[in-house]
Amino acid sequence: MKVNHVLSTSQFSDTRLLERLFALADEMESRNTDQKLFQSLQGKILATVFYEPSTRTRFSFEAAMHRLGGRVISTESASQFSSMTKGETLEDTIKIIAGYSDAIVLRHPEEGSAARAAKVSRVPIINAGDGSGEHPTQALLDLYTIRKELGDVRGKRIALMGDLRYGRTVHSLINLLILYEGVEIILVSPPELRLPEVYQQLLSTHGIPFTEHPHLSPITHDLDVVYMTRVQRERFVDDAQYQKVRNSCVLDARNLVYLSPHTIIMHPLPRVNEIHPSIDADPRATYFRQAQNGLFIRMALLELLFEQKFLEQETLSQHNPAVMPAQKRT
Ligand code: NCD
Repeated sequence: MKVNHVLSTSQFSDTRLLERLFALADEMESRNTDQKLFQSLQGKILATVFYEPSTRTRFSFEAAMHRLGGRVISTESASQFSSMTKGETLEDTIKIIAGYSDAIVLRHPEEGSAARAAKVSRVPIINAGDGSGEHPTQALLDLYTIRKELGDVRGKRIALMGDLRYGRTVHSLINLLILYEGVEIILVSPPELRLPEVYQQLLSTHGIPFTEHPHLSPITHDLDVVYMTRVQRERFVDDAQYQKVRNSCVLDARNLVYLSPHTIIMHPLPRVNEIHPSIDADPRATYFRQAQNGLFIRMALLELLFEQKFLEQETLSQHNPAVMPAQKRT
């Protein structure tokens, strides 16, 4: 039997699969409005294993599973409460948890960890963030949000702003944006946090025009989406380096003037100081609706996954940076 792991958004190279997922997410939203529990995943157990902190990803996966009639086993902080503290390898931990559950949602600080887990797991592994590698389900809900808010992804001018180097959500989102015609990317970051070469190459290979800028300015005009990110402090070896760049990409009343009335402002959250709370009341502020969409996308994903009609492991395409050895990354 083939196992349907979700390790990287490069697995979603067919937009028909994305459309199927999004249609089901729409349906989940309308079902959810009735506040009813469903039985489609009755008898299934989802394990959520997080070695790094999480609010949205873990709660929305767990809520999704409960809403669909399934059950959840979880550890509040795997780095503290799993046998890792006794020296157990990730592989051994996964093999054991796979024996107790029907799918595993894994967040781990090492890039490539989800792929390592998938190698030894007899149940699907869902990558909920592998270091600064990828965070595929976040990107699925991000793309769903763009489509829902703007009607289409094609032809959109999208600014990706902040920590493009370590921000795994940006990496996963780029794998999806390259599938859409007419998309243009504006990369906004300090030089220290530039988008890794492998993703710049990917944009070029797919003929997606992109430019790099240190700040939002009149040059970066007429944007449809501004996708903000947090500077990933936990990835810096030297905190002084973090202090140097921590305020480099901030959205406040001053640079809001560079946005059009129709621009949507997104952020995977949590935010630190990238978006001033005074912007929350602006109708363009989309980030809380975006987080809510995470529930519907994860409900849809789990249902498709358990129906076994979904991704085949073999569909992992060649360009998948998540399965590249870490030393090859820039
Ligand atoms: C993101 C992550 O964990 O990569 N959070 C999330 O899942 N919504 C973004 C971040 O932590 O900055």
